[in-house]
Amino acid sequence: MNIKYRTEKDLPCDQLYQLFLAVGWATEETTTQEMIDNFNIGFIHSTFVFSAWIEDKLIGCIRALSDLHFRSIIYDLAVLPEFQNKGIGSSLVQKCRNACKDSEWLVQTDKAKDFYKKIGFKESDDYFLTISSKWF
Ligand SMILES: CC(C)(COP(=O)(O)OP(=O)(O)OC[C@H]1O[C@@H](n2cnc3c(N)ncnc32)[C@H](O)[C@@H]1OP(=O)(O)O)[C@@H](O)C(=O)NCCC(=O)NCCS
Repeated sequence: MNIKYRTEKDLPCDQLYQLFLAVGWATEETTTQEMIDNFNIGFIHSTFVFSAWIEDKLIGCIRALSDLHFRSIIYDLAVLPEFQNKGIGSSLVQKCRNACKDSEWLVQTDKAKDFYKKIGFKESDDYFLTISSKWF
């Protein structure tokens, strides 16, 4: 499997929408064409975006907002179900962490708690998991 990781922020809206549908974050019934046309807006305006591809098929994505020093927070980590459990999710998180190595890393999740714990995050309360910064 030849997976390529890319860094552009303007991911194709249609493929991003399909990825969100596949992991259950979007539904056809509640998504309008206008929403689909703007699906990558949050990615375009994020600090870091990484995506995983097989040829021209988007199979995974992540985005993070960061102050580039103290604090960074992860959003929208998703891997197509048929490509899960192949190390893609953890690679995408690692690429974010490498982009701002000494920062605190934060994620808010309920369902993926155990995944994040497995890759080094610590539970800080019911929903947030963190990796401490170098400074605090
Ligand atoms: C969570 C998610 C991104 C993980 O991606 P992935 O590519 O399957 O993860 P990896 O293959 O890198 O898994 C790394 C390790 O975590 C484990 N793992 C993966 N998903 C897990 C889960 N939901 N719960 C517990 N462990 C999990 C893997 O088995 C693997 O363990 P190993 O190193 O012992 O083999 C993916 O399951 C997904 O897209 N889920 C739906 C969307 C979601 O919940 N995103 C997170 C929102 S912040």
